[in-house]
Amino acid sequence: MNLKNLKKPIDKKLSKHLKFKNISVAYPYFNHKEVNAVLDSLLKLRISQGDKTKLFEKKFADFHNVKYGIAVNSGSSANLVLFAALIKQKKLRVGDEIIVPATTFATVVSPLYQLGLVPVYVDIESKNWNINPELIEGAISKKTKAIFTVHTLGFPSNMNEINKIAKRKKLFVIEDCCEAHGAKYNNKIVGSLSLASTFSFFVAHNITTGEGGMILTNDKKLQQDVRSIREFGRLLNIKKRFSTSAKMKNYDSRYMFMNMGYNLRLNDISSSIGIEQLKKLKSINIVRRANAKYLSDKLSSLKKHIYIPSVNKNEKSAYYGYPFMVKNSNLRNKLAKYLEDNGIETRAIMGGCLPDQPAFVNQKHRIYNNLVNSRIVKNSGIFIGIHSALQKKHLDKIVSTFEKFFKVISK
Ligand SMILES: Cc1ncc(COP(=O)(O)O)c(C=O)c1O
Repeated sequence: MNLKNLKKPIDKKLSKHLKFKNISVAYPYFNHKEVNAVLDSLLKLRISQGDKTKLFEKKFADFHNVKYGIAVNSGSSANLVLFAALIKQKKLRVGDEIIVPATTFATVVSPLYQLGLVPVYVDIESKNWNINPELIEGAISKKTKAIFTVHTLGFPSNMNEINKIAKRKKLFVIEDCCEAHGAKYNNKIVGSLSLASTFSFFVAHNITTGEGGMILTNDKKLQQDVRSIREFGRLLNIKKRFSTSAKMKNYDSRYMFMNMGYNLRLNDISSSIGIEQLKKLKSINIVRRANAKYLSDKLSSLKKHIYIPSVNKNEKSAYYGYPFMVKNSNLRNKLAKYLEDNGIETRAIMGGCLPDQPAFVNQKHRIYNNLVNSRIVKNSGIFIGIHSALQKKHLDKIVSTFEKFFKVISK
């Protein structure tokens, strides 16, 4: 790209990129603002974590009506650092159980295993593929300390029920909002409905910084430990350059380490993109929801063949993707191939039934009851793109491809 082009909005050119050959599952909705923001960081030589990251954290937290935002380099890191901080705070101890949905992404549970916590897998609802609140109470044991819910593919979890159970059973709740930027539950934005929440800004998500993530919380002490563990476990809020305390005399406060930490920081180049992306989130989601409605209306004639997850009246999905289930699961892979052959990208529902995955099968976990729905969704669920760069012609192409497939196979 040459500099002249930078003045022109890239999004106007989207339709050129989006030939029918490739109806992608995701597309970063960028224009000259993201490009200029990056250039600004580069020209100021602000290329590691700095003021723009601070600003992104503040704006993202404000957007969610939450006090603190802590930016990290991925959604996986957000989950890792948050649970490490919860252990530091003694809100959790090694061996404690955390209730999780059985169908979600791998790094919802990897950090739990890595930190010596024990996931308790609970089946998902057939309606929207989120953790089934009716099963949570039965899954609780003396060791259970928290419910870690995921707003799957942008569909909000049933937070009323989850929070009610948590209150009754003295557990705390964490939300994984990595797939659910701007989703709403009872008119409140997800990520603001629990002790803390996590986000991913990977390129496939509603807003993106390429790679990136965020933790939100109202808990001051928790945010301090998250912040410290994010960056080496170092002392923050330095008041005096050299320590005068008896034990740490003459240690440089910049190099005093209060926690066992990582380096999971987000740099200012990424944060500058995040600030611009956040301004677009509301309009991105309006288009995604309109696209989803258009597809659902058109595809309703194929109800015999496919099931489309529904949204309750009190919910607004962020439509990370457009999910559906092929009722005859034997046809799922064939349909995926047919869609791909016709230039429509598809993805399975993340990690499927997670306790079956090779990485986790031999790790310490508990499965509550059975995971019937999770396995059904693993076998017959799939999603396609519904992002804001898709136009009517792309949606019509999706519909006609579905119709052709089922016309041929139902003969
Ligand atoms: C529910 C969920 N949690 C966590 C992650 C991890 O995010 P990242 O890819 O930014 O590490 C993802 C990834 O998409 C996800 O879908």
